[in-house]
Amino acid sequence: MYDWNGLKAVCSDCTKCGLCETRNNVVFGTGREDADILFVGEGPGEQEDLKGEPFVGPAGNLLDDMLSIIDLDRKSNCYIANIVKCRPPRNRDPLETEQDACIGYLRNQVVLIKPKIIVCLGRIAAKRLIDPDYRITRQHGQWVEKNGIWMTAIYHPSALLRDVSKRPETFEDLLSIRAKIQETGAKI
Ligand code: URA
Ligand code: SF4
Repeated sequence: MYDWNGLKAVCSDCTKCGLCETRNNVVFGTGREDADILFVGEGPGEQEDLKGEPFVGPAGNLLDDMLSIIDLDRKSNCYIANIVKCRPPRNRDPLETEQDACIGYLRNQVVLIKPKIIVCLGRIAAKRLIDPDYRITRQHGQWVEKNGIWMTAIYHPSALLRDVSKRPETFEDLLSIRAKIQETGAKI
């Protein structure tokens, strides 16, 4: 287990999986390092790889709008990270082996952040962090408590860009996140 500086240093020149060969930047994560709410996506896309920051492309703009609906802001009161920290080529899903190589860093981040609430963005993060058999269509918005942390998943912002019909359900899920913030006394 590393402290923040140690972890950032190790990640910045990590070669534990093949994604190191095609990345421009390791996308470590961003936000408040003692946030009570952590959002986890699947992995960097093109813009994220170029900038070294998570969710800065079109999906990121939508995520920022979604956060603002429930008074969250990527800089001041939550933290945003991904299952893998380097971009999968052509935005394919990260392989199991790549997720296995990278997940320890995210777990280290969780230990350092100590969030009360983790929100998985999309199926890949939900399968990895909540349940390998997770079905996003059926289970989004449901809550489970694991090791004292409340966990849920919502549709990935990219899915919401492709299919606007999923947005009303996601609005309900956002309200449920806001309710959980209130219930747990999470600081925002
Ligand atoms: N999609 C993700 O899952 N993560 C990002 O950082 C950007 C897009
Ligand atoms: Fe290392 Fe994770 Fe990047 Fe793979 S994706 S090279 S494990 S930081």
